[in-house]
Amino acid sequence: MCGIVGYIGYRDAYPILIDGLKRLEYRGYDSAGVALMNGSINLYKKQGKVADLESHVGAQSTDGHVGMGHTRWATHGEPNDINAHPHCSASGNFALIHNGIIENYSSLKAKLTSKGYTFQSGTDTEVLVQLIEMIYSESEVTPEEAVRLALNEVVGAYGIIVMCQDEPGKLIVARKSSPIVIGIAENEYVIASDATPIIAYTKDVIYLNDDEMAILTKDSHTIKTIGNEIRTPFLQRVEMELEELEKGGYDYFMLKEIFEQPKSIADSIRGRINPNDNSVWLGGLVDVHERLKNAKRFIFVACGTSWHAGLVGEYLFEEYARVPVEVEYASEFRYRNPIITEDDVVIAISQSGETADTLAAVQIAKTAGALVLGVVNAVGSTISRETHAGVYIHAGPEIGVASTKAFTSQVTVLSLMAAFIAQLKGISSFKSQEVVNELLQIPEKVRTILETNEDIIRISDLFKDSSNFLYLGRGYNFPVALEGALKLKEISYIHAEGYPAAEMKHGPIALIDENMPVVFIATHDESYDKIVSNVDQVVSRKGRVIAVVTEGDETIRNLAEFVIEIPKSHPSLMPLLSVIPLQLLSYHVAVMRGCNVDQPRNLAKSVTVE
Ligand code: F6R
Repeated sequence: MCGIVGYIGYRDAYPILIDGLKRLEYRGYDSAGVALMNGSINLYKKQGKVADLESHVGAQSTDGHVGMGHTRWATHGEPNDINAHPHCSASGNFALIHNGIIENYSSLKAKLTSKGYTFQSGTDTEVLVQLIEMIYSESEVTPEEAVRLALNEVVGAYGIIVMCQDEPGKLIVARKSSPIVIGIAENEYVIASDATPIIAYTKDVIYLNDDEMAILTKDSHTIKTIGNEIRTPFLQRVEMELEELEKGGYDYFMLKEIFEQPKSIADSIRGRINPNDNSVWLGGLVDVHERLKNAKRFIFVACGTSWHAGLVGEYLFEEYARVPVEVEYASEFRYRNPIITEDDVVIAISQSGETADTLAAVQIAKTAGALVLGVVNAVGSTISRETHAGVYIHAGPEIGVASTKAFTSQVTVLSLMAAFIAQLKGISSFKSQEVVNELLQIPEKVRTILETNEDIIRISDLFKDSSNFLYLGRGYNFPVALEGALKLKEISYIHAEGYPAAEMKHGPIALIDENMPVVFIATHDESYDKIVSNVDQVVSRKGRVIAVVTEGDETIRNLAEFVIEIPKSHPSLMPLLSVIPLQLLSYHVAVMRGCNVDQPRNLAKSVTVE
């Protein structure tokens, strides 16, 4: 969840670290800190955002060509100046930044305490840096060897960078279940939790694997395992442009990403549909056709918004590929002894490709012999590398903490996969080809919906002070109801619940009165008449209905207080359209309530801890 960045080379490290921390701030923003090597280690850290750290540093000297920085999402120890990273060993010889959790930190701390070590902070990270120092001073080994030996005692997850005053021209980096990317340029290296702080300097990177460490000087790198085996690194090129990481004139990344969806959906489709016959080709699945064709069951594992996309995927796969699907919260799946066989295909859906629970579910499924696929956005991420095969969604970097364009691209790719599997199985192609043909029209229809932004601003203004919202939908629009509610609660802090509209009668209807806004996702499909009566039931109890409807719908217009019209499409693709007004509604409500939508409280974009 935290962001880490390091630099070693010939330039001033400080501006590179600050710039990198700003790019990584979506990963955590409780506190930030920097350590610079300039003869000795100079440390600056501050509770709050990276901007608070910058003000704190002010005019102090920031010299040094070696350094590291951290932006924190607190796990152990409250967010304050002392718990901010970097942490130093007692002698001040070592400094360390860490993303992850040291699970056995209390037993390590007890061991260190018995040897006279004392601790300043409440963090697990300080325990690790003291452990390194203890091994270094007791065993008379090199700093890198002390780090390696210490990591052999650690249970948990870590992405770390270590500096040692005794070897000022070196950075020691290591990872286990927490991403580390090392950018390699001429006489310099930039290290980070993801590639975004790196691409301004180089696009050549190494993704460190679990249990690997890197020892970097300004002009050399050595990769080895924590078992002390030398590894030959695999150099890759990152396809990412700097403009993709900027707000491009929008107030928030979230708004930019909502408005990018005509393009991001088109990018998810590009090159995957044969225009002559609407057949689908997914290059990432080329080696697994037989297992896909013969699969007895698909299991989608995901968290949050990606789980909602998985629910849409369930409907799509069952309808078009005629294969049973289960959709699992990765966090539940991993701990409940699930039955998985070699005939199962497990699909991990993840924007970041780093979510700890989803990654653990991947590992369990692999061990059980299932074919494990990834539907991932972040190229080169851990899940994309740990799965047997997969399909990138190609939505481009998503920086706003609330996921928007990743959801629509995930649903796009899942609909392509459903059609592709139907093709492989030789299922009558008419239905799925119709959907594929309609998919090509979606980007333009999303563009039309974005033009209703001003109407949605007006509705947002009327409801911005509500304390609760209900979101109701049926069929393909039920996962959209869940997603709409999640978007609103996570960025505006308004309590919101999503339900299948028919379930309303089994409980939530008790909540409805003249103060309850109810958002219906009520587009034309087989259950349209049913949802009209659900709208009626809410209206007759004085609930305030905002309905997302298919254009030209006079029936619901006559019932609801507000309607937002969206273009007609194939019912199974409606989530790609109906979610857009809900994203905009949550965005505007949050902004009107004065919330920082890109950095909502307590949240971080990439949940790499349990
Ligand atoms: C909600 C949101 C989260 C993520 C969830 C999974 O807007 O962003 O619910 O969807 O943390 O993240 P990924 O997709 O990176 O595995």
